[in-house]
Amino acid sequence: MRTLLVIGATGLVGSKVCVTAQEKGYKTVGTHNARTSLLPQSQKLDIADADATHKFVAALKPTAIINTAALHNVDYCESHHQEANRVNVEGAANLADAASETSCRLVHLSTDYVFDGKKGHYNEFDAPNPLHYYAWTKLEAEKIVAQTPSYAVARPSVIYGWNKLESTGIPSSSGKTINFAMFVLVKLRKGETITAVRDQYSSPTLADNLADALVRLVECPENGVFHTAGRSCVSRYEFALKIADVFGYSPGLVEPVSSSDFKQVAERPKNSCLSVDRAEKTLGMRFMTAEEGIRIMKTQEVGEDVA
Ligand SMILES: NC(=O)c1ccc[n+]([C@@H]2O[C@H](COP(=O)([O-])OP(=O)(O)OC[C@H]3O[C@@H](n4cnc5c(N)ncnc54)[C@H](OP(=O)(O)O)[C@@H]3O)[C@@H](O)[C@H]2O)c1
Repeated sequence: MRTLLVIGATGLVGSKVCVTAQEKGYKTVGTHNARTSLLPQSQKLDIADADATHKFVAALKPTAIINTAALHNVDYCESHHQEANRVNVEGAANLADAASETSCRLVHLSTDYVFDGKKGHYNEFDAPNPLHYYAWTKLEAEKIVAQTPSYAVARPSVIYGWNKLESTGIPSSSGKTINFAMFVLVKLRKGETITAVRDQYSSPTLADNLADALVRLVECPENGVFHTAGRSCVSRYEFALKIADVFGYSPGLVEPVSSSDFKQVAERPKNSCLSVDRAEKTLGMRFMTAEEGIRIMKTQEVGEDVA
């Protein structure tokens, strides 16, 4: 039986990957770090611990590893370089070494933030130019992962979807508490106003859609970088408005703000939207628009507690 090791099974993407992989017949083993996983077969692993990571992978001998773990609170990374480097670069390097030693495929999550946002609609051949430390660590990790014999680097953008652990409010060791769509829904349900930036554009990516792409990347014979994001290029403000519309809340609760009025420690790319043509063709799948993704979230709403 094919065994898939999912690093970060407590996370938004990792938890969805576990479900998709099991549906596709993989024996799935997940790992968590600070939070306890809802998966019975999940084990604790800090990927920055080289020895523990090597031993874990050597004992399991997986067919492939999907690494979703990162310290990805952008502003926190800006003032905590050592911590960010430890997880995002050294952690990725430990997994790359372990994958090479055990001859398994490594699918690694990167980000649209490797681009400076001056152009938009980026394809895989556009040159990255990170604006902040988090993005720099992710680009360094891409270069390290690219030295493993069998690998894929997946670049998503603003990932959203339901994750039961995010509803608990217990933050992940990634630095993230709750994803943007869930944050918007919590506010709207309470009738509270939210402000969202109107001049930063990205390609919101439904975690379920991304999980499908990541499992396809495990099975893909090609090495390389793949843009695995939503098809829409929208500002956070437009995205929040779409969420309000699909879920039936008043658009008046969503207020636009410009990035110059919104305090963010690290400068964000103005337009980091991604072209997903290569991944769609190679993987034989279609990425969703923001509206399609939000509609999927709406159909999954029953039983999801976001209060
Ligand atoms: N979220 C976005 O909008 C976005 C956009 C573009 C790219 N990305 C990239 O996509 C990936 C997944 O994002 P996500 O939203 O699913 O993240 P997430 O929900 O914050 O989950 C991160 C996972 O990584 C684990 N983790 C953190 N530090 C670790 C360590 N030192 N060793 C082992 N595991 C560790 C966490 O474990 P615990 O929960 O147990 O602490 C959690 O399971 C990341 O690589 C991120 O850089 C994210």
